[in-house]
Amino acid sequence: RGRGGDTGGALTFEPVEQNFLDALVIPSGYASSVVMRWGDPVLPGAPPFRIDRQTPEAQALQFGYNCDFIGWLPLDDRNALLVVNHEYTDEQLMFAGVADEEGAGDISNEQKRIAMMAHGISVVKIRRDGPAGQWRATRERDRNRRITTDTPFRLTGPAAGSEYLRTSADPEGRTVRGTLNNCAGGVTPWGTTLHGEENFNQYFGTTAPISEQTQLAALRRYGVSPEDVPTRQWHTVDQRFDLSKEPNEVNRFGWVVEVDPYDPTSTPRKHTAMGRFKHEGANVQIAADGRVVAYSGDDERFDYIYKFVSKKTFRAGTDRATREHNMTLLDEGDLYVAQFTGDSPAAEIDGSGTLPSDGEFDGVGHWIPLVEDGRSMIPGKDVAWVLVFTRLAADLLGKQVDENGDLPDPANPVVIDPSKVPTKMDRPEDIQVNPVNGRVYAALTNNSRRTGADGRPGADEANPLTRSYAFEPADDEAGTPASFELQPGNRNGHVIEWEELGSATGDTFNWRIFLIAGDPDFPGTYFAGYDKSQVSAISCPDNLEFDPAGNLWISTDGNVLSTRNQEAGTIGGTNDGLFAVPTAGPERGHLKAFLTVPIGAECSGPMIPPDGRSVFVSVQHPGETTGSTVENPSSRWPDMQAYRPFPRPSVAVVYRPDGGRVGS
Ligand code: FEO
Ligand code: CA
Ligand code: CA
Ligand code: CA
Repeated sequence: RGRGGDTGGALTFEPVEQNFLDALVIPSGYASSVVMRWGDPVLPGAPPFRIDRQTPEAQALQFGYNCDFIGWLPLDDRNALLVVNHEYTDEQLMFAGVADEEGAGDISNEQKRIAMMAHGISVVKIRRDGPAGQWRATRERDRNRRITTDTPFRLTGPAAGSEYLRTSADPEGRTVRGTLNNCAGGVTPWGTTLHGEENFNQYFGTTAPISEQTQLAALRRYGVSPEDVPTRQWHTVDQRFDLSKEPNEVNRFGWVVEVDPYDPTSTPRKHTAMGRFKHEGANVQIAADGRVVAYSGDDERFDYIYKFVSKKTFRAGTDRATREHNMTLLDEGDLYVAQFTGDSPAAEIDGSGTLPSDGEFDGVGHWIPLVEDGRSMIPGKDVAWVLVFTRLAADLLGKQVDENGDLPDPANPVVIDPSKVPTKMDRPEDIQVNPVNGRVYAALTNNSRRTGADGRPGADEANPLTRSYAFEPADDEAGTPASFELQPGNRNGHVIEWEELGSATGDTFNWRIFLIAGDPDFPGTYFAGYDKSQVSAISCPDNLEFDPAGNLWISTDGNVLSTRNQEAGTIGGTNDGLFAVPTAGPERGHLKAFLTVPIGAECSGPMIPPDGRSVFVSVQHPGETTGSTVENPSSRWPDMQAYRPFPRPSVAVVYRPDGGRVGS
């Protein structure tokens, strides 16, 4: 196993077992270390982390909470920048005395301000000291940066400055303070990072009833509930989160954010041309004609997959003028939403996951334009409206609308062109392009509501499950014991693979389901046709990554698998983890568990640098289980110390001490 000499891509590691351990479990022959923990210093002057001495000012200098996407950008042979999202906060695991996840009312205004500073993005200089793929944060903090809810962002694109984005603090509608709920992301070929603003709805509340019907409809479509009191209660410390006082502030979140990590003084941007929804993330590829194609999923049950195609073309080179040009590529372009059509008879898609008679869940896809050549494709609606209210715009496609572009009867829309109706998917998460075969892969994490009952959509060939085997915890009120059995909906999720026809900028693609997750011992699971007795169980695929050989790495969030325990019977919700699977050759579909994360955590942000010798993971929300608090946490990872008996979300790196390739 020569260091660097191993150019093959075979995944020869021994898979790890499902478990409930409070540990980062890795294959034999590997080592791991923690790179950054919540509270670690990022900027000069950051005080040492003390859970009982938190302040907003300290947190704004320290590593934030709930790390997610990880970007890696080279500086020189030994140094790199790590760019990390901080998606959200778990107050019950940050502050003593907060009872549970619903206990946000007990949170002081000072703690709300700390939580705001724990959101955002960190840029951290890291260094490799030895031959292996181990990286550490350096004490040189000159390149480091913290982006929080206070950092100014510039809006770009056609909706910037529009009436929907103006607020009393920003009457021009061009400058936003902060970024929220940054989930997945991507590194661009021009050396910037993209960050999806996902569940921004949870940060907004109101002190007065909202009665304006247009505003209400838009809020509801984005999951912002003006009736419920949000647990975070941020609107009590910052008026811009009060929907009744600043109705447009909420429209300034839900974008793809671009950061130039190489310049700590640069103003990050929010790209309105890429549309507004619960962006899981965004990843770009350069099409043959030089235009930039970016894919992004909208993570909601029954929401859509989108593609952005830039107007301008990418220029190779790293000089200042070239970089500045490339950093405008996402300012202007066309926006499309995906329709997946199956090629098998509908009667053969019975919701069980049984393959249709042609042997595959597959078909043809079409990219339906929402904005093309600078024009809105929704009659009666302008481009800015389509980009700010992208979910509503996508819902209108193919439907009969009145002269204002509205549905005459929203409860009973009339479809006039089925070829223009986008496909409602099972929670689209990360989308990544395979650098070896050029195919695009999308994780659909799960959808408990795809049942075909109670007016909900049933199976289609791209979302073929209406029932699946999953763990259900005991319900004391209902008197039901824990079980692992057939449950309604797609509980374990799946992964779709497609190839654009002709060009990545085109409007047609061929797709097929690559993987239907779950316990391979149970029917309805599928691993690209590979022998199921040889694969690891996997549930709830979320973030995707490729190694240089084109193997797909999949991290999971919300595992509903179970194991059988002799004393306890069926116990479930085994730890989430990271999996690797070849996408080509005779081993295509041979999925194996590479690591598992501690109790209560999801695994996110997998990142493999170009040399293939390390895999970074975000261990997000360790200890986030029912009833788990600072005083009585279910996880103590990674410190595992008596003086620090609580969990800390952290970025870890896994590598071979012999310097070998990860996966080998
Ligand atoms: Fe933040 Fe869609 O996972
Ligand atoms: Ca088929
Ligand atoms: Ca995610
Ligand atoms: Ca997720």
